[in-house]
Amino acid sequence: MTVTTLPNPGFGTYRLEGDTLRNSLGTALEAGYRHIDTAQIYGNEAEVGEVLADSGIDRGEIFLTTKVWYDRFVPGDLEKSVDESLERLKTDYVDLLLIHWPSPNDEVAMEDYLPALKRVKASGKARHIGVSNFTRAQLDRAVSILGRGELLTNQIEVHPFLQNRAVIEKCQEHDIAVTAFMPLAVGKVMEDATLKQIAEAHDASPAQIALAWLKAQDIVTFPSSTKARNIRSNLAAFDLTLSDEEMQAIAALDRGERIADPDFAPHWD
Ligand SMILES: NC(=O)c1ccc[n+]([C@@H]2O[C@H](COP(=O)([O-])OP(=O)(O)OC[C@H]3O[C@@H](n4cnc5c(N)ncnc54)[C@H](OP(=O)(O)O)[C@@H]3O)[C@@H](O)[C@H]2O)c1
Repeated sequence: MTVTTLPNPGFGTYRLEGDTLRNSLGTALEAGYRHIDTAQIYGNEAEVGEVLADSGIDRGEIFLTTKVWYDRFVPGDLEKSVDESLERLKTDYVDLLLIHWPSPNDEVAMEDYLPALKRVKASGKARHIGVSNFTRAQLDRAVSILGRGELLTNQIEVHPFLQNRAVIEKCQEHDIAVTAFMPLAVGKVMEDATLKQIAEAHDASPAQIALAWLKAQDIVTFPSSTKARNIRSNLAAFDLTLSDEEMQAIAALDRGERIADPDFAPHWD
């Protein structure tokens, strides 16, 4: 499986609900985004389903991802939670179904929930399966349970201030695509002096430079925005090419600054 299976970029929908979600996702679809990232826990699957249904865009043109929350991992219940997601999303399959976070303290064993995820794929309700927020050790364990080639992606936090190189190398070792969440460090990239300087040279914004830096590493991502101007300029960022010197300057910005770090997170690498 290659990274090209996942359209780059996608549109992230975390924190977007109600009319904000409807307007932002509507603008994103009009602008040309075709890869949409949602999750059971975001509480917006029904609205995502509505916008997609109303858009008139063929289902086959959309790459839709949702994620199973960790309180639905028990086999049997996991499958039921996917049926509920599909009903909210008004579709009979998702393109990608992810385990949102590894089970806190292994409350449900990976040996139980990963085969359940695979059964959803076998049923046709998910075209691809993957994981999110998995560490190197968890990726090794997952691949030993499911075998190589089953997991399409590991969706992890990656931006200039948390470059997550060890996990990325582990993904590459297992031929698992890397998907980056919070690519703009939730807006913080706009404040960085190095990114601002590179942005000026390209007549671009620091956000666009952060996205171009991910694209140059073949990392799929899905920035989120509520503003039409940002939604469009984030898409346009994928036409930018950075020089080797610029890539190196951004590589030097890594400071291990993790934003998504809830109390149920695994022991990070
Ligand atoms: N798997 C996981 O555990 C996990 C965790 C977190 C997120 N995610 C996924 O990743 C997606 C992206 O992460 P995120 O939404 O948390 O953070 P993000 O995409 O890094 O940042 C979004 C923020 O950046 C601002 N922004 C967007 N484009 C901009 C631009 N061109 N110029 C200036 N500011 C800009 C937005 O504000 P405006 O609205 O004002 O534009 C918003 O506040 C989520 O929506 C979700 O789908 C997954």
